[in-house]
Amino acid sequence: MTFVSANDASIPALGFGTFRVPGPDAERMVSHVLANGYRHIDTAQIYGNEAEVGEGIRRSGIARSDIFLTTKVWVANYKHEAFIASVDESLGKLKTDYVDLLLLHWPNEAVPLAEQIGALNEVARAGKVRHIGVSNFNTVLMQQSVALSSLPIVTNQVEYHPYIGQTPVLRAANQLDMSVTAYYAMADGKVFDDAVLKAIAATHGKSIAQIVLRWIVQQGVIALSKTVSEHRARENAAIFDFELSPDEMAAIHALAKADGRIVSPEGLAPVWDKMA
Ligand SMILES: NC(=O)c1ccc[n+]([C@@H]2O[C@H](COP(=O)([O-])OP(=O)(O)OC[C@H]3O[C@@H](n4cnc5c(N)ncnc54)[C@H](OP(=O)(O)O)[C@@H]3O)[C@@H](O)[C@H]2O)c1
Repeated sequence: MTFVSANDASIPALGFGTFRVPGPDAERMVSHVLANGYRHIDTAQIYGNEAEVGEGIRRSGIARSDIFLTTKVWVANYKHEAFIASVDESLGKLKTDYVDLLLLHWPNEAVPLAEQIGALNEVARAGKVRHIGVSNFNTVLMQQSVALSSLPIVTNQVEYHPYIGQTPVLRAANQLDMSVTAYYAMADGKVFDDAVLKAIAATHGKSIAQIVLRWIVQQGVIALSKTVSEHRARENAAIFDFELSPDEMAAIHALAKADGRIVSPEGLAPVWDKMA
């Protein structure tokens, strides 16, 4: 397994995502992927499957200490008391004493950022969380989070696929000694009809999903990948035995479009950075 280092964190470069994975599928897939080499699992309070993710981890037989487990606090739980209680509830559902990474799922101006970051630090100091981070933050919020935190903010988890340019976030992360974690790698299925990706996939004898995931990890970015199929999970993990050429990397970067962002829920999304 390849790891991405960010400050004091060492994060497996490929994670298994569980968004829109109903409980029974989450339990089956988490147990399966862990038994077959994945070591990084991504869930969230709002996904409603933490209990089944916890059961999948238990069933896999893989030692807890060998697994990198992330969950995310939902925006409705950002006030101090609710935050702490929600983390305790997540740990109970996940059947573990700690998570490896705890993220703020989306920005929420209704609660001061200092209070949110303070709560992240508090649960980390209490040993309930090994590392802390954010998700769906723009570069201004990334900088503010780092300034407000005593402990390192180790990642910003954002939408990233061939149709969205994330250069400002990648640059800011580099300057702030943070990693970037990519979600929606398949651009909600749009990548599968792409002629450029099809041609690159044919050259390597790989699938489009593998090309896209490889393009992400080859940048030093952590890739999340979700599937309810055991076969696809195996396919998506086979991305560390080949390399894309600089021209192929550039050709995929060139697919980015100004309107390529897919996930921008009203009431949650910040003012996004302009594509560089
Ligand atoms: N922080 C956030 O706000 C946020 C937002 C979105 C997602 N995430 C995280 O990122 C993870 C990944 O994002 P995502 O769930 O949108 O999934 P994704 O990895 O981009 O996959 C999207 C779809 O592609 C299909 N797929 C996967 N591998 C494939 C393959 N080899 N061939 C053909 N189709 C394939 C899957 O369908 P099947 O299941 O039918 O195979 C899946 O529904 C999430 O599960 C979640 O953990 C975080």
